[in-house]
Amino acid sequence: MSSPQALPPLRLGIAGLGTVGIGTVKIVQRHADLIAARTGRGVEITAVCARDKTKNRDADLSGYAWETDAVALAKRDDIDIFVELMGGHEGAAKDAIEAALATGKDVVTANKALLAHHGHALAVAAEAAGRVIRFEAAVAGGIPVIKTLTEGLAGNAMRRVMGVMNGTCNYILTRMESAGLPYDQVFEEARQLGYLEADPNLDVGGIDAGHKLALLASIAFGTKVAFSDVVLEGIGRISIDDIRRAGDMGYKIKLLGVAQMTGRGLEQRMTPCLVPAGSPLGQLQGGTNMVVLEGDSVGQIVLRGAGAGEGPTASAVMSDVLDIARGTRLTTFGQPAATLKDATPAQVTVAAPYYMRLELLDKPGALAKITAVLGDAGISISRMRQYGHDDTSAPVLIVTHKTTRDAIDFAIEKLPATAVVNGDPVAIRIEEL
Ligand code: NAP
Ligand code: HSE
Repeated sequence: MSSPQALPPLRLGIAGLGTVGIGTVKIVQRHADLIAARTGRGVEITAVCARDKTKNRDADLSGYAWETDAVALAKRDDIDIFVELMGGHEGAAKDAIEAALATGKDVVTANKALLAHHGHALAVAAEAAGRVIRFEAAVAGGIPVIKTLTEGLAGNAMRRVMGVMNGTCNYILTRMESAGLPYDQVFEEARQLGYLEADPNLDVGGIDAGHKLALLASIAFGTKVAFSDVVLEGIGRISIDDIRRAGDMGYKIKLLGVAQMTGRGLEQRMTPCLVPAGSPLGQLQGGTNMVVLEGDSVGQIVLRGAGAGEGPTASAVMSDVLDIARGTRLTTFGQPAATLKDATPAQVTVAAPYYMRLELLDKPGALAKITAVLGDAGISISRMRQYGHDDTSAPVLIVTHKTTRDAIDFAIEKLPATAVVNGDPVAIRIEEL
């Protein structure tokens, strides 16, 4: 019996030779045999692209053609996959991916910003051209969450998707707690360590993690990517006091993304939340990411790992490349783009318990006054703790029963009239896991 004819090598054109691009080059070079054994064909790099050809890049690029223009790379007829690792949600990355699809290339990208803004249009273009776009590296770095959701859990109606998807924010919050340092100081530390994006607000403003959540929500709920509907709140207002006090009540503060389909529409939020200290999310330290997926048949799945960095992110890029080499051709968001629905944003989030911290003046009847305000707002108290008074006030911590953000905001508006509260009250949602 004659053996089947070997497939020709799959040819990559890699645009972007920074952290992720060079990581990808290294894996292709280091694991050529392993890749060929697993896919039945070779994977090789034909051409690469970056802005500055003279830069020292910690990898041997001498065997590859060099392009300075990413669109020119995308259009080359000696590549099969255009690997976009430049970043940016407009400009070169978008133009080059469009050019790649139009000239018959499959696309692998790590660019969550681009897909959060243009994912649906690009998915439509890919399907029209008979090509695929894969983006495992765009969400939670090395964690294979796109594959898990799209393939492993394909038989589930998803109930909720949540997680800590920005390692920088988790580093800042856990470092504030472990070192007892204020936000500004740890933010500066993170900058020195090179953790922050060029625009730090992408990290600490929750935008980067919001991009990732919007992509997961599209796959999980069969909706068009709707990043503009993600409720975003960053970590800049979290104080060391809140981290300590939340700890006293048995919670950790996380920048937590939650997406769920409710009777009132799709809820997507990336906001600081409290989670039980002993839960997997509560125990997550440093720059690590964690994604929690809940399906109707499988129940809860927890994935944990490196959310960024050269090796982990390149590992995810290569997972997509190997899939294409094996002939696995999936739609971008887990179902044909034409069948994705418009997401109706939920106007009101699902009710939840809240943590409140108030500074209460030392006056007779002060506690009674604030509990009356909460009662008038329809908020029921589950637990309460008062600390000793300093010269002027005493911290009071309250954990409510399930309530709405509107009720909490109503109460916060009424609290100054009691004349027993010092400063601004803090209220943070407690996510039930
Ligand atoms: P990076 O280190 O800043 O590298 C970007 C590369 O793209 C550089 O080589 C740069 O060229 C090149 N580039 C930028 N604009 C270009 C243009 N207009 N034309 C040609 N080349 C251009 O970025 P990175 O950290 O590797 O991130 C790449 C992508 O992966 C981004 O979408 C990012 O969000 C995503 N991602 C990164 C991580 C991570 O851990 N770093 C994790 C997950 C996802 P020069 O070198 O010549 O300047
Ligand atoms: N800035 C991101 C983070 C990098 O801190 O997680 C990976 O997307």
